[in-house]
Amino acid sequence: MGCGRCRSLPVVPVVPVVLVVLVVLVVLVPAARGDCGPLPQLPGAEPPEDSKDNQSFPIGSKITYQCVQGFAKLPLKSDTIQCLENALWSVLPEFCSRSCYSPPRVSFARVSQEDELKNFYAVGITVNYVCNPGYEKSSDKLPTSTCHENLTWSEVPVLCQRKSCGTPENPEHGTVVTTDQLFGAKADVICDDGYMLTAGQAFIRCHLKGDGVAWTQLPTCQLIQASSSTVGTTAVTDATKPLEEKTSEYRYILPLVIIPCIIGIAVILIWTIKKCAVKQKGTYKPNPTNAGDEEQGPSCQERKTGP
Ligand SMILES: *[C@@H]1O[C@H](CO)[C@@H](O)[C@H](O)[C@H]1NC(C)=O
Repeated sequence: MGCGRCRSLPVVPVVPVVLVVLVVLVVLVPAARGDCGPLPQLPGAEPPEDSKDNQSFPIGSKITYQCVQGFAKLPLKSDTIQCLENALWSVLPEFCSRSCYSPPRVSFARVSQEDELKNFYAVGITVNYVCNPGYEKSSDKLPTSTCHENLTWSEVPVLCQRKSCGTPENPEHGTVVTTDQLFGAKADVICDDGYMLTAGQAFIRCHLKGDGVAWTQLPTCQLIQASSSTVGTTAVTDATKPLEEKTSEYRYILPLVIIPCIIGIAVILIWTIKKCAVKQKGTYKPNPTNAGDEEQGPSCQERKTGP
């Protein structure tokens, strides 16, 4: 500042020139240099020691944060921010947490009601499971899972097993073939020779019933009717009702459709024959200009005898 030449300059022009230069510097320089400012503060995370206090970072800089004490990095989340082209730091969703995600889902059990309502699962917390309907405890212990230090859940031990429906009864004149008698199992029903299943499914299933499990209702095996003769009718029981109802439907449909058809055709034929006979008796000749009332019936032409 102790510049001798400055004193020789006129005072008035110096002030605006200095102001303009300052404004230009303030406005243009950071944009021209294209740098990002100091690192942002992120929840539960801190930047590395060596770049913590830097005030400016060039475009393209990448800084990887670390979770602070008591927090852990969430699996699959990014922990690195970048200085973008527009000289702004990229924005990251939260990646350090003190809480695991929701506990794992398994087919044989569900998280106890008490634990399910929580929305914060801190490191070290253990949630209890209860066996699903159709399953029962296979030991004294119930399944549990614990939120690890790295925010993953421990595997849920398989401590629930499928309940058994027991050995199914055989239907009269048939057999149930089982390979599995536990909840969810399916068993085929096979009728003896000469017998067939009535309407319904050819299998039973071990399904939920009340608090437990039970086989679904057995289908019945019905004597096969060789024809509609006396052989079958003696063996018909209540169980055959659905099949009987079906065949009687056809018994009604057939006459209802065919009989009116036959009657209709007969009426038309008789009417036509009568009309033609009447016209042939007289010397009637259809008048082409007066044929309006003849539209409905077939027209009769006078039979031409030989010349
Ligand atoms: C998390 O920590 C548990 C227990 O320390 C370990 O068994 C598991 O493999 C870890 N999982 C991952 C993804 O690091």
